[in-house]
Amino acid sequence: MEGPGVGAGDALLILALETSCDETAAALVEDGHIRSNVVSSQADLHARFGGVVPEVASRRHLELVMPVVREALAEADAMLGDVDTIAVTQGPGLIGALLVGLSAAKALAWGRDLPLAPVNHLHGHVASLYLEPDPLEPPFLCLLASGGHTLLVDVPERGAFRRLGTTIDDAAGEAFDKGARLLGLGYPGGAEIDRLAREGDPEAFDFPVARVPGLDFSFSGVKTALLYAARDLGDEFSERRADLAASYQRAIVRALVQRTQEAAEQTGAERLAVVGGVAANSELRASLPDAKAPPLALCTDNAAMIASAARYVQAIPPPGYLALDAYASAL
Ligand code: KG4
Ligand code: ZN
Repeated sequence: MEGPGVGAGDALLILALETSCDETAAALVEDGHIRSNVVSSQADLHARFGGVVPEVASRRHLELVMPVVREALAEADAMLGDVDTIAVTQGPGLIGALLVGLSAAKALAWGRDLPLAPVNHLHGHVASLYLEPDPLEPPFLCLLASGGHTLLVDVPERGAFRRLGTTIDDAAGEAFDKGARLLGLGYPGGAEIDRLAREGDPEAFDFPVARVPGLDFSFSGVKTALLYAARDLGDEFSERRADLAASYQRAIVRALVQRTQEAAEQTGAERLAVVGGVAANSELRASLPDAKAPPLALCTDNAAMIASAARYVQAIPPPGYLALDAYASAL
């Protein structure tokens, strides 16, 4: 089981920062209500490289973090003096990117003598379900599918979860991004494949997804299958891109849905949820009609979900948090 379950509390104004990958984000959340949620995406900056360049991301976070915090305060019509707790993503993610957010959060907390709540990014994605106006109450089974992670977790209470399965190689979002690159689409690729797939036939190609033991996932094979199919098409490749995208998306979604249903049977879970960037996928949402999914803006990385998770993390008073370090891998 992960997570202490004791929280910073509810009736507090929390200012949260999120800089684990290529989104610089800040949000103000009070009692589960989002007062502001500002996300500055660096996607355009990384697009020409076809993926996130860590050093470029860190530098951009450094430029954006304070303007984004100021915008979040302004949108919430609040001042730093109104804030009760600072929250920040401590990991997992890109270490240099995380350190920018963590350092900024420490400085903000220190300057105002406020406590600091360090948040696990994965708990953040799950906590996107606890925000108003329609929060989900545990227990539930949750599929967390993003660019960096693909997990099935059992959530017995807010602030805690138990891992049932994970990917043994690529994350589902990574498979979307790599597939999109192969199809000559932009970065990030998930939304682009989602769009192109609407014009294609999902049964045109048979892309099997490897079944691994237990409740784990594997997505490295499906992108090789896409590579070979694209190569075999030769001159026909361009006109068949929509079919390739639709079939590829179908294979990934099928694998996610199958494992989620198996986990639900094994655990006897009555409620299902799906979170993370891939939860924005239209076919996945349609294939799990009974699963609760956050609004699209709360699926991809944002700081409102970090503030939401901070309510169930013990905030550290000054000066204890000054020694906190970021971590790159999931604990
Ligand atoms: O949660 P997120 O913003 O960042 C991580 O924590 O990794 O997830 C980003 C991932 C990217 O791989 C992106 O391609 C994928 O979410 N994604 C989608 C869609 N929108 C974003 N994948 C499939 N369909 C979408 N509509
Ligand atoms: Zn994420």
